[in-house]
Amino acid sequence: MRVLSGIQPSGGLHLGNYFAMMKRMIEYQEHHTLFCFIVNLHALTSVFEAAALRKNTFEAACDFLALGIDPEKSYFYVQSDVPEVTELTWLLSNVTPFGLLERGHSYKDKLARGIPANHGLFAYPVLMAADILLYGADRVPVGKDQKQHLEMTRDIAIRFNQTYGEVFVVPEPDIPEAVAMVPGLDGQKMSKSYGNTIEIFSPHEAMKKRVMSIVTDATPVEAPKNPDTCNLFAIYSLFLDANSKQELRERYLKPGLKYGEVKKELLEVIWNYFTPYREKRAELLADRDGVMRIMKMGADKARMVATEYLNKARHAVGIDY
Ligand code: ADP
Ligand code: TRP
Repeated sequence: MRVLSGIQPSGGLHLGNYFAMMKRMIEYQEHHTLFCFIVNLHALTSVFEAAALRKNTFEAACDFLALGIDPEKSYFYVQSDVPEVTELTWLLSNVTPFGLLERGHSYKDKLARGIPANHGLFAYPVLMAADILLYGADRVPVGKDQKQHLEMTRDIAIRFNQTYGEVFVVPEPDIPEAVAMVPGLDGQKMSKSYGNTIEIFSPHEAMKKRVMSIVTDATPVEAPKNPDTCNLFAIYSLFLDANSKQELRERYLKPGLKYGEVKKELLEVIWNYFTPYREKRAELLADRDGVMRIMKMGADKARMVATEYLNKARHAVGIDY
């Protein structure tokens, strides 16, 4: 089975990214063919500073490698290093109904937040479909916010196949309930664009500030607390197995629990969890040439698969005269 997913280098990677996508990708590489990439072309829709995009892309590469992506076992690359994806985007554009894109939640949200509507933002899902269809992916691990984008990819693949003959695999989304929507500090979806994240590799002081500002309710210390509506409990649970989660639940239900103490504990849990990866990441950040060699190798491997699918699509539409 081919498993594929991408992430935007639009800022520091956070717990939502880690649990919904990165951690699961690293697990998948053991038994499946994995395609994991950094979508810098997509990030152009929101990052307009070249130096920041370069820095974020390099750091995202180091993040994944530090967390355990094995570039020998899997296909690990930067989106723009496989230019075939932009050609496929154009071929797919011609079977993508305008109305399908107009209904995009992410596009509509961005317009509602006052972001200027440009073609890149509008066509974002077509580029994402190209990312997926170019490698014949069967399964795509993402968070719930990407569900509609995957439905669009499926629609586009089906329309292409109906118009030109069977070329593309129609992929399945992979969105487990437990990590579908990781809450941020304020209980909304944790997201770079909402400024409510806990970054996995931030310095201790910065992480402390974030964890201590997780919003909790005003239940007095001496009263029992409700774990099921508590944001702090939801974030802490990501790090706990079933037994430990049950223990924490029982602490909530007994009078006397202090949110401030739970936050301090959680800070140490997060910090210690990422400590070995943080050390590895520091080595990678200092070895630019080594990381660049790895990314080049990944792009070369990915291009071989991409070319195969792109050639099939070129033939199907008739531009290979
Ligand atoms: P952000 O919303 O912070 O910009 P991205 O759009 O780069 O994050 O998301 C990268 C991956 O992480 C996607 O698969 C997305 O679904 C997932 N993801 C991001 N935030 C969350 C979250 N809070 N809960 C679950 N999944 C998330
Ligand atoms: N749109 C995705 C996000 O913001 C990123 C992405 C681009 C992606 N191409 C992809 C995810 C292909 C999965 C597969 O998170």
